[in-house]
Amino acid sequence: MIEVQHLTKRYGRVTAVDDVSFRVERGEILGFLGPNGAGKTTTMRILTGYIPASEGRATVAGYDVFDQPIEAKRRTGYLPETPPLYPDMTVREYLDFVARIKGVAAAERRTRVDAVIQRTHIDDMATRHCGKLSKGYRQRVGLAQAILHNPEVLILDEPTAGLDPKQIIETRDLIRGLGGDHTIVLSTHILPEVSQTCQRVVIINKGRVVAVDTPENLTARLQGAETLYVEVDAGGADVPTALTAVPGVTRVAAADTRPGSGAFEVESERGRDVRRELARDIVTRGWGLLELRPMRMSLEEVFLQVTTEEPAAEEAPRA
Ligand SMILES: Nc1ncnc2c1ncn2[C@@H]1O[C@H](COP(=O)(O)OP(=O)(O)OP(=O)(O)O)[C@@H](O)[C@H]1O
Ligand SMILES: [Mg+2]
Repeated sequence: MIEVQHLTKRYGRVTAVDDVSFRVERGEILGFLGPNGAGKTTTMRILTGYIPASEGRATVAGYDVFDQPIEAKRRTGYLPETPPLYPDMTVREYLDFVARIKGVAAAERRTRVDAVIQRTHIDDMATRHCGKLSKGYRQRVGLAQAILHNPEVLILDEPTAGLDPKQIIETRDLIRGLGGDHTIVLSTHILPEVSQTCQRVVIINKGRVVAVDTPENLTARLQGAETLYVEVDAGGADVPTALTAVPGVTRVAAADTRPGSGAFEVESERGRDVRRELARDIVTRGWGLLELRPMRMSLEEVFLQVTTEEPAAEEAPRA
């Protein structure tokens, strides 16, 4: 439904987007995750036809955003970083105005406007002037205008920015509800957003895609080896030596610096589940097995790992 191929955007000497490629399938909700300045807004502006790319191409619903901009825009709803509201219009007047611009038939206009007002929970504000709305309501009116012409594709730039916790939950529910019928790309630098709303995540850093996967796979994949947290009461016996001998175990390290705590991190070969063997070994030795659980990397740790630069060996200057 959305296809982005080798997209690059340069502003003078700044490369804001650097050879970005990804696809979004019909009905999918894709999270576009990255720190400030990563290139999220720039990519979205290109996808919605607001700015041209320096290189590469993008299609939305089968239409090239550069060559067939009108067809592509007709199928796209866009919530920009700052929703484009007219301060002197009431919310209802503004939405009616947007409906006209977007070519919603006169007979349907009233129904459509009512429908999006309900869906985005802005009924209370329908007669308020846009210029007098709070940040959270401006954001919701922005979302209302994006879905007004019922577009197949929604491009939402930080849809929950500036919302209070209750509004965040409502907006996430709304977006999840829109998935399936709509294909959605939403940008965020907030992690719970992607794990709770998105089926797939593109992590972007300094204009480059650094990872693409489901939230679950990202946490699992980047973890590398499988790690278990094991706590035993071994009465002072040498636990690391014993557990390292269990088939499949590659490394055992103290999980707690206090001496004699009995807590260990046990790493095993990738994809190998050694929990049964470990438990059997511990119990057979007559030790007490107090705890045994997988240690998963949180998406937060994954995000930090892929967006925090480490001195990469291959980039080091050759001697
Ligand atoms: N009009 C412009 N002229 C020059 N540089 C720009 C322009 N717009 C964006 N940039 C630069 O491009 C880079 C990417 O910016 P972009 O707004 O796409 O990031 P972002 O991921 O949306 O960040 P944020 O999370 O802060 O919204 C930044 O280095 C930014 O300074
Ligand atoms: Mg941005």
